[in-house]
Amino acid sequence: MAEHATQDLLRFITCGSVDDGKSTLIGRLLHDADGLFDDVRKDINATNLAHITDGLQAEREQGITIDVAYRYFASSKRKFIIADVPGHEQYTRNMATGASTSDLAVILIDAQHGVQAQTRRHSFIVSLLGIRNVIVAINKLDLFGFDQARYKAIQQDYLQVAAQLEIPDIHFVPVSALHGDNIVNKSPNTPWFRGRTLLDYLERAHIDRSRNDKDFRFPVQWVNRPHADFRGYAGTIASGRIRKGDAIRVMPSGVISSIDSITTFDGELPQAEAGQAVTLTLNDKVDVSRGDMLVNTSSLAQMSDRLRARIVWLSPTPMNRDSDYLLKSTSQELRAWPEKIHHRIDVHTFAEQATDELQLNEIGLVDFGLHQPLVFDRYKKNRRTGAFILIDRMTNATVGAGLIEQPLATSPALAQRQAPEQAANNLHPQPPRISAAKRAEQKQQQPAVIWFTGLSGSGKSSIASALDELLTAHNKHSYLLDGDTMRQGLNRDLSFRESDRRENIRRIGEVAKLFSDAGLITLAAFISPFREDRQLVRELLPEGQFIEVFVDTPLEVCEQRDVKGLYAKARKGEIRQFTGISSPYEAPEKPDIHIRTEEMSVEDAARVVFEYLLNQVPFKKQ
Ligand code: ADX
Repeated sequence: MAEHATQDLLRFITCGSVDDGKSTLIGRLLHDADGLFDDVRKDINATNLAHITDGLQAEREQGITIDVAYRYFASSKRKFIIADVPGHEQYTRNMATGASTSDLAVILIDAQHGVQAQTRRHSFIVSLLGIRNVIVAINKLDLFGFDQARYKAIQQDYLQVAAQLEIPDIHFVPVSALHGDNIVNKSPNTPWFRGRTLLDYLERAHIDRSRNDKDFRFPVQWVNRPHADFRGYAGTIASGRIRKGDAIRVMPSGVISSIDSITTFDGELPQAEAGQAVTLTLNDKVDVSRGDMLVNTSSLAQMSDRLRARIVWLSPTPMNRDSDYLLKSTSQELRAWPEKIHHRIDVHTFAEQATDELQLNEIGLVDFGLHQPLVFDRYKKNRRTGAFILIDRMTNATVGAGLIEQPLATSPALAQRQAPEQAANNLHPQPPRISAAKRAEQKQQQPAVIWFTGLSGSGKSSIASALDELLTAHNKHSYLLDGDTMRQGLNRDLSFRESDRRENIRRIGEVAKLFSDAGLITLAAFISPFREDRQLVRELLPEGQFIEVFVDTPLEVCEQRDVKGLYAKARKGEIRQFTGISSPYEAPEKPDIHIRTEEMSVEDAARVVFEYLLNQVPFKKQ
């Protein structure tokens, strides 16, 4: 039944601006089709539309700001969903969103203007997104007395555009949306036209859904664990189908299991297919979490931390190699940074031009590095698992859409940093003769890492330095590490892009761990803007040894003080990716110590931390 419902459902997008007569065309289609097939309307009302719109829901969950209106209608042969995209300035973004779920595109050309730059751009995006069927509606021919020559000239122009693109199936229709010529009813005004009406073409268009039939892909949206005995994985099947008992593989972990049950809102099912929202349980107790993908064992997905993708850039702020973004694909979210921008496409000639940035609405080919491996397919193979969006972490806006072309080899530097398991296999550290406890005892102190986090100029280093003095005065052995110093030495190869800040903190974490082992009290003063990175340092250390101090100074105050003059420079755009201005800061949710610098002096703040340390059980013991 579900299969039947999707078989005779055509999703299509209409491309063109308001002036081209797009709303008139849609209105005409809905109106004329509706009048003809009154009985079908009852049927469509009875159909559960929720099921067929599930695919769109998935996109919404991805966090795309959709400004696309979906309209439904039916004829005696088929049901239709039109993705109607408003023609304002965000057009390209909405168009890309609407087109990503469409089987066919109706490209509208105003006979008064012929083929425009927009027509070329939309056709390019349509072809890029893998839409194989295009109907070109040449509109407002009534203004030319349905002149065949006018129609033919535009048709020729468009065929030249299409010849450079991958659109195997194109039909042309001469129409007047306003008067209804050749929309639903054949027009008496175009006796020279041998083709069919727009609706006729829509009814006959071949929908190729076979592509993803065999590749089962299930991105886990969330783990449903109401009690200890039940562990279900909820999500929407991105492609393929699954039956009870089928073997699956969890990616990226690679663990194999099989399907125990498939549950939906309406109860248990023997099988399910693409577009259905289900909860799956497995026959083995395996570790699966949000962002993992379940796939069939016979056709695995790809996995890589570097990839090449076609990008449609949707932001007024250009994409360049200094920036990092949040990449969202299926239920995965990870940090991504452009490593190389190969070219952008000139929409007038479709030629590839060398560039080092992508501007609003531009389309380009870009290589990305990722902070951990992404599970995906090539877009050509799978439209769901082969697409992603890019988010600006500062503004949370969607700034780009990407179609994955291919995985790339992990770079040697990344390989060393991110996949050290192999090298680690051959490492055999010398067991220490002197334990950490012994060293701590010798120093008469409990080692700890006091981690100061906060904006630049918030007072981290000043407070840490005062604490250093206080500890020394009390015969404790401490040592201060701070951003400005470390970045001149150990970390001088790192910039301020997110991936480098992460590496900065990782290295400091390792150093702090060694210092702890040596029995020292380490005072670390780093912006360390990302929660996850600070958490990683916490996990490196023995329980209780990491003490997070949030040096809380509001941005306005830091900016007003501007001790180093950096905020002024950042505002002028002379420093890029400056924390608080053009790069995010994630404040600790539950810091061990919270210092509001507006309410106390540097010396008092140092004393607060000192008192805290004295009150810690291990300190008291000594
Ligand atoms: S972190 O983000 O990687 O933790 P870190 O603490 O090492 O930063 O270095 C921060 C110091 O570098 C700041 O106090 C400031 O003096 C300097 N700096 C230079 N450029 C930037 C920038 N774009 N953002 C933040 N700090 C910067």
